[in-house]
Amino acid sequence: MTQSYRERFDIPADIAYFNAAQIGPISLETQRAGEAAYRDKTQPWALPASTYFFDRPEALRAEAAKLFQSSADHIALVPAASYGLAVAANNIPLRAGQDILLLGEQFPSNVYIWQKLAAKTGARIVTVERAKGQSWSEALLPHIGPQTGLLSCAQVHWLDGGQVDVYAIGKALKAHGAAFVLDLTQSLGVLPIDIHACQADFAVAVGYKWMLGPYGLGYLYGGHAHLEGEALEENWIAREGAQNLAGLIDYKPGYEPGARRYDVGERSHLQLVPAAITALKALNDISIQAISDQLGAYNRHLIEDVTALGLVSDVPDRAPHYLALSLPERAPKNLVERLKADQVFVSQRGPRLRISAHLYNTDQDRQHLVDSLARHLS
Ligand SMILES: Cc1ncc(COP(=O)(O)O)c(C=O)c1O
Repeated sequence: MTQSYRERFDIPADIAYFNAAQIGPISLETQRAGEAAYRDKTQPWALPASTYFFDRPEALRAEAAKLFQSSADHIALVPAASYGLAVAANNIPLRAGQDILLLGEQFPSNVYIWQKLAAKTGARIVTVERAKGQSWSEALLPHIGPQTGLLSCAQVHWLDGGQVDVYAIGKALKAHGAAFVLDLTQSLGVLPIDIHACQADFAVAVGYKWMLGPYGLGYLYGGHAHLEGEALEENWIAREGAQNLAGLIDYKPGYEPGARRYDVGERSHLQLVPAAITALKALNDISIQAISDQLGAYNRHLIEDVTALGLVSDVPDRAPHYLALSLPERAPKNLVERLKADQVFVSQRGPRLRISAHLYNTDQDRQHLVDSLARHLS
């Protein structure tokens, strides 16, 4: 990795932070944008209301749309993945007896909502497991058929980093008229996706992990068929003509165009939005393909280094940016804690060690991690 990215972050040289999959740091530039936004709030008269209520959220929507390779009309500003998934569940018609497909050990925000929808509609949850050596796509395909009502899954599984071939799976689902919902939390911003080509109905991602943005802002994509759906709440700012603040009690039946109707109340998040714009713009300026290539190369190097220590990358179709390595049997139970004591930050999810590097990680970080692992696994 080039040193120039590291210099954009407040990460001391002796810290090896490999935990973007849990929470990503904001850059110094993003921090400055956030501080300036707080300063703006000290003197609310100094800016036109249209700037913070409308122009800035629109700029954020446009920046987020680029990550999906879509346009601003398809993007809603949401506070969490669970919120976006609730919008999706609210807008996908299911019949009793249809299957709701989920992947095994999926993130809970992408399970509970479907359990609720199954109870409400009489649809049936089918959890697809992946056999050893099998990719998630290979495991999924045989389950897709005329009985399928919906699949909701991640593009990259949070526990093992395995990818779903969203294009092949989207095609198979649509051949049976089934809906497709994606949780892109562990991939958007670091793995390219052409959301229209994969035919997703809805897709959501949080902004505080790989996107290196503030906590509390996420992005929901709504497909062409869902731009006139039902919002979870009815807030004033999503209604047509809301820009005319003097005319708000001239209550309007219509909404702002596209997926804006799904925006959460107070979506203009005065203090968060400028920071989020800065964070997403930085990713788009580098390009998502370039980020994916860079993280992929970094991780291939890392795998080479840790193989001799008994850590194994054994997940078929692993996403380039995501490492979830099987540990050797001799690994101590408190390995993550021991690494932390050495200023190396990773996480353990299930039986795997999750190492999630980002642009700020350097060759020195990698050596730091390898040395620390060698010490605790010897
Ligand atoms: C795959 C995945 N989805 C979603 C989330 C966050 O969900 P929520 O925004 O509902 O808190 C996480 C957080 O770890 C995650 O790993």
